[in-house]
Amino acid sequence: MVLISGVFIFSFFFSGVLAAPSGNRNERPIIGILTQETEDAVLKPFGKTYVAASYVKYLESAGCRVMPVRLNLTFSEYEKIFNSINGILFPGGAVNLENSDFAKAARIFYSLAIKAYDSGDYFPIWGTCLGLQLLTVLTAGKNLLTNTSTENIALALNLTSSAQSSRMFHDFPPELMKALSKEPLTGNFHHYSIATQTFQRNIKLRHFYSVLSTNTDMYGVEFVSTMEGIKYPMYGVQWHPEVNRFLWEKDLAFPHSAKAVQLSSQLADFFVNEARKSFHRFPSAEEEKAALIYNYSPIYVGNICSYMQVYFF
Ligand SMILES: *[C@@H]1O[C@H](CO)[C@@H](O)[C@H](O)[C@H]1NC(C)=O
Ligand SMILES: *[C@@H]1O[C@H](CO)[C@@H](O)[C@H](O)[C@H]1NC(C)=O
Ligand SMILES: *[C@@H]1O[C@H](CO)[C@@H](O)[C@H](O)[C@H]1NC(C)=O
Repeated sequence: MVLISGVFIFSFFFSGVLAAPSGNRNERPIIGILTQETEDAVLKPFGKTYVAASYVKYLESAGCRVMPVRLNLTFSEYEKIFNSINGILFPGGAVNLENSDFAKAARIFYSLAIKAYDSGDYFPIWGTCLGLQLLTVLTAGKNLLTNTSTENIALALNLTSSAQSSRMFHDFPPELMKALSKEPLTGNFHHYSIATQTFQRNIKLRHFYSVLSTNTDMYGVEFVSTMEGIKYPMYGVQWHPEVNRFLWEKDLAFPHSAKAVQLSSQLADFFVNEARKSFHRFPSAEEEKAALIYNYSPIYVGNICSYMQVYFF
């Protein structure tokens, strides 16, 4: 009996990659993280492009696998990746939002995701910090960002009336929602923001996203700090949920309270749940294995920058 069930589990395990996912959720999601040109002078010697390990840990912690998505691939290579993975995260950083290789690759995933959704194929996109800014550029077709003084500051969110009925915050316990609007649980590390006024004046943005929270910088500029697609599964946070659990530089505004950690877990859970609604998969087990982040080792950079560990490509 033991042997028989052992054999069954064994063969199931090895055919699992190619078998159609059972039920209405994909329990083996793979999420891409878009690599970015290395601009930081201290990191440049290590590699042309990178992914901070904190984003990888953030997603993995919620029960998915991660694929680093390289820059400068052809459209058909990106299309093949799109059809193999179950969502993508555009991380923070500092590159041009229109002309960088990062922005060009993101544009391809963004338009494929919209086309897919319109034909009944779910593919969620998440943007953190620069990633949120990039989403606004992709939707508006131009860069509408405003310079704000929002570098290294932890803030409570000014939740809008849309927050309560949002998908992103739907499963948040009431105490966490309360803490989110009262305690500084969100770490901000940006020089630019999409001002609420600019957002509201732009019909493309206004029709595409629902604003879930705003914040105000020290000069009084109110900006969008959290948003989600009204129709499409696209999500943006101007702040950094991953730092709450995975970065520890003492001089930086990384919130580590129990509530801050819970917030980070809850949001990662949310996005991985979104990816479970996607049934894209790799054409073969070999291609899947070769694509995953497990093939790479992060490098310790805690002595030269706040990232602690970074994957270079
Ligand atoms: C991408 O291609 C451009 C143009 O050929 C080149 O300048 C750039 O270094 C490449 N980027 C990467 C990350 O390989
Ligand atoms: C943004 O504004 C700050 C404060 O006014 C200023 O010091 C900084 O140079 C500005 N940055 C850019 C890129 O305009
Ligand atoms: C929340 O909004 C109020 C009113 O606009 C503003 O005064 C306050 O600074 C905002 N709080 C944060 C943390 O941005």
